[in-house]
Amino acid sequence: MKLSYGLLLSALSALALAAPLAQDEIKQNVASGLRLLSLQDGAEPIWKTADEKLELMKTGTKFFDVTETYERKQALAVKKAKVAARTTYPTPSHQSELHGALNLIASETQIAYLSELTTKFNNRYYNSTDGKSASDWVYGLAQQFANSHDLVSVSKFEHSGFEQYSVIARIEGSTEGPVTIIGAHLDSTNSQDPVNGPAPGADDDGTGVVNLAEAMRILINFGFKPTTPIEFHWYAAGDAGLLGSQDVATKYAEDGIEVRGFMELERSGYYASGTEQVFALQADNVDADLNEFVKSLVETYADIPWVMNTPCGYACADHASWTAAGFAAVSPYEAITGDDNPKAHTETDIARGIDWGHAIQFTKLAVSFLYELAA
Ligand SMILES: *[C@@H]1O[C@H](CO)[C@@H](O)[C@H](O)[C@H]1NC(C)=O
Repeated sequence: MKLSYGLLLSALSALALAAPLAQDEIKQNVASGLRLLSLQDGAEPIWKTADEKLELMKTGTKFFDVTETYERKQALAVKKAKVAARTTYPTPSHQSELHGALNLIASETQIAYLSELTTKFNNRYYNSTDGKSASDWVYGLAQQFANSHDLVSVSKFEHSGFEQYSVIARIEGSTEGPVTIIGAHLDSTNSQDPVNGPAPGADDDGTGVVNLAEAMRILINFGFKPTTPIEFHWYAAGDAGLLGSQDVATKYAEDGIEVRGFMELERSGYYASGTEQVFALQADNVDADLNEFVKSLVETYADIPWVMNTPCGYACADHASWTAAGFAAVSPYEAITGDDNPKAHTETDIARGIDWGHAIQFTKLAVSFLYELAA
């Protein structure tokens, strides 16, 4: 029998990528309640107890909780080059059509969504009944926009191991792909007491949640019929090690889904008085070309300038999950880190504290990002 060269090669690369952690070890540790956390780029993840993980969340330490995705990512490393096909981004060219759509953006609708989201639940902790009810609320809102539109669908993306689920809304294109995605995380956390503490999470990341909802409402009401599909992702467990976005991004990579670009909206409702009002573009774990495209959108469609932010760090927000899975991702942020909202992750992060003049700029960016990449 002749040994297939291709088979031999794939067996070899599987060996080269063999997980340093054995499957049995993972199973055993998960069964005893341990979580596998990746705290640093290039370093092996480490096991932590559930309490140790909570302590990290309290101190605001950023990490990927890779307990459920570690083995899947190891397997994917072989395929990565395939999904990461480079794409070039256009020069903004839809000014005349977009003018009308951007004029439809309202703060009233977003204020109404946000005041409901921030007062309905004690917090939106990812592994709780309230956390799951928050997913139900987002799902219901997106369904309202989707109602009776043939091209629009809303689905639940369930995760194993915790209660909250992610919500994905999709507007079909006239062709199959690639898909353009904007995301936000729907959970919220009080860093003093993550499980039980009140966490209205208005800015973090209620603003992202309602920016996406408003962008979806606007594009549907405007009758946008994209050439390539667009998706709105509301992620579970962003504050708990980016569990939701990692699960989704890994699945898209596993399924070989082509993604034109991913943009995370994580906090858009605050800038410090005495500072310039800007889009602070995250500079690390992002795609440089897609960031250039975002700059051109800001210059064309927004009323405030962009600046590059200081490095946001490892596992900083959901865009990092997409970057890690081999996709092009960006994340414009409300302010230069340090001048950002000091109330995030406390019980005082309430809807009344949001600057809508600022948040609206991010809604404009969301609409123009989707329109220019998918029209
Ligand atoms: C979520 O809560 C359940 C029940 O308390 C627990 O078994 C599970 O490990 C928790 N999930 C995570 C990801 O911590």
